[in-house]
Amino acid sequence: MKRIFSGIQPTGNLHLGNYLGAIKNWVALQHQFDSLYCVVDLHAITAPQDPAVLRASTIEVAASLLAAGIDPGRAILFNQSRVPQHSELAWIFNCVARLGWLNRMTQFKEKAGKNRENASVGLFAYPTLMAADILAYKATHVPVGDDQKQHLELARDIAGGFNALVGAEFFPLPEPQILGAATRVMSLRDGTAKMSKSDASDYARINLSDDADTIAQKIRKAKTDAELLPATMEELDSRPEARNLVVIYGALAEKSAEAVLAEFSGKGFGVFKPALVEVAVEHLAPVTRAMRDYLDDESHVLAVLDDGARRAHAITKPIMAEIREHLGFLGDSLG
Ligand code: AMP
Ligand code: TRP
Repeated sequence: MKRIFSGIQPTGNLHLGNYLGAIKNWVALQHQFDSLYCVVDLHAITAPQDPAVLRASTIEVAASLLAAGIDPGRAILFNQSRVPQHSELAWIFNCVARLGWLNRMTQFKEKAGKNRENASVGLFAYPTLMAADILAYKATHVPVGDDQKQHLELARDIAGGFNALVGAEFFPLPEPQILGAATRVMSLRDGTAKMSKSDASDYARINLSDDADTIAQKIRKAKTDAELLPATMEELDSRPEARNLVVIYGALAEKSAEAVLAEFSGKGFGVFKPALVEVAVEHLAPVTRAMRDYLDDESHVLAVLDDGARRAHAITKPIMAEIREHLGFLGDSLG
């Protein structure tokens, strides 16, 4: 049986990279498979968070997911910290994962930066919690953007390590699902940097909360070059900003990048950018509008998260009981 799990951090604004790299695929997958989508507040506190901001962001991210089309009648939507099995299994996985495995994680190196000694232990162990998120439900498929590939490999190693430890094929080896045309959306200011929530410049990203005027302004100001659009994608290899905009256009309009070039080759950005504004606004305005409606009805969002947490708990509880038995823990968990 196929079961989908994915997560998203409640830190900062959701942006077009989250939408095209992850959320859009989650919406499609929920119609085919058992799916759980999780707002990972435990992951968020690997860096310091203001409690009031974290709470508001958790609700905002949940509202965005509902607005993007996650249907709580099908998928389970919840926030991670409500289901204590995530933390419990993460500890167990801290005892399965080797320091050497975690030392290879490039995201930790990027996030810790030069001040490694001062990074939280939680930031270092971030991928073991992510493995716990997935495996607490024995999820088999994990739709994520390209940047999570390495974490998924680690989750597979942990699943295999646990299975070897207990001498049973207990966990499935979860498979990454890196889907769609835009698995790595780049910054609008720098075609070599990933579009990210943490970029200091808001002009680097299109937020799901941006109105049409803001989207238009950001695309107008997006870094490009003075050349015309070529006929093939290969010719864009050395033009990362131009390439990124073509990929974004294709992903939004659900056309291949080649088809986009067939339409715009020989034309400059004076023609292409307004067309991109049009597709971006057409696709994102309904999400933004729905998001505002959900945020006006916070109690509805809270009720969805509450129901989701209960359904998630009901799935993981018996799985955790088996894990405890495999490890020889006495008595049942009170969580
Ligand atoms: P995060 O915002 O780091 O919690 O990421 C949530 C999901 O969005 C993950 O599946 C990421 O891989 C995906 N994602 C984040 N940034 C991008 C991006 N620039 N392009 C594509 N996918 C992204
Ligand atoms: N680490 C992921 C990110 O930053 C978020 C995440 C947490 C996740 N737990 C997960 C993604 C489990 C997939 C499955 O994007």
